Amino acid sequence: MSLTTDSVRVKTGIKGLDELINGGFPTVGTYLVTGTSGTGKTLFGIEFIYKGIMLYDEPGIFITMDEPPDKLRAHVKMSFGWNLENLENEGKLAIVDAISSRVSAPSNEKYILRRGEIDSLLYKTANIIGELGAKRVVLDSIVSLAYQYDSIFDLRRDIQRLCYGISQLNCTFLITTEVPSGSNRLSRFDIEEFLVDGIILLKLDKENDANTRKLMIVKMRGTDHDMKEHIFNITKDGIILE
Ligand SMILES: Nc1ncnc2c1ncn2[C@@H]1O[C@H](COP(=O)(O)OP(=O)(O)OP(=O)(O)O)[C@@H](O)[C@H]1O
Ligand SMILES: [Mg+2]
Repeated sequence: MSLTTDSVRVKTGIKGLDELINGGFPTVGTYLVTGTSGTGKTLFGIEFIYKGIMLYDEPGIFITMDEPPDKLRAHVKMSFGWNLENLENEGKLAIVDAISSRVSAPSNEKYILRRGEIDSLLYKTANIIGELGAKRVVLDSIVSLAYQYDSIFDLRRDIQRLCYGISQLNCTFLITTEVPSGSNRLSRFDIEEFLVDGIILLKLDKENDANTRKLMIVKMRGTDHDMKEHIFNITKDGIILE
């Protein structure tokens, strides 16, 4: 099957984005969403999962490393009116709590990643993929996971293992990472960008005393894509590219 066939495209469902990459992510694979703080990385990840379920009937898994699941559910409901809890009850969405045990807080969540279980992250994710028939997995963010490693080589090996394992299960994997403020780098550890099939960079530019949100497709293996910066807005319907 051709890489550019529409049927294999993984549509993000984000308004204005799929058109820039010929219909969606070119293949099931791993994609990186990167940017400085507050640029909309978590929103991008949750919207990818939410729209996947609502528009394309593809169940999804959101592994949250930074924001406790309850806060995430509340923020998303308040800002966009998206009811994640309903989707969880319907078995279409799993939110994995990968923060509570790291900060030694109790958790009543159904899916929990305990401290020291990084090795089994793939195994756990694979089980949930099977349980839900998931097609999309988001890890938000790789940075908090990475701090549990002493060696960049071990980190690189494990990210690679995770990406490979998830795509072998026919799921599209989206990872968020951070760009240090004021730098032109693409990631926090300078390794993430080499391990993925595509990179989307989110920016917040200050122009004439106003902040403008911008999105740029930096890399997308297997497809032509637009290289311009695109202005986007965060609206009550999520991300919308102009
Ligand atoms: N309903 C809304 N309308 C407009 N903007 C919103 C709305 N809800 C959230 N935002 C914006 O989205 C931003 C948060 O986006 P998000 O949490 O996805 O960023 P992030 O890149 O993940 O940040 P961090 O680096 O802190 O993890 C907020 O700072 C806010 O400006
Ligand atoms: Mg975030």
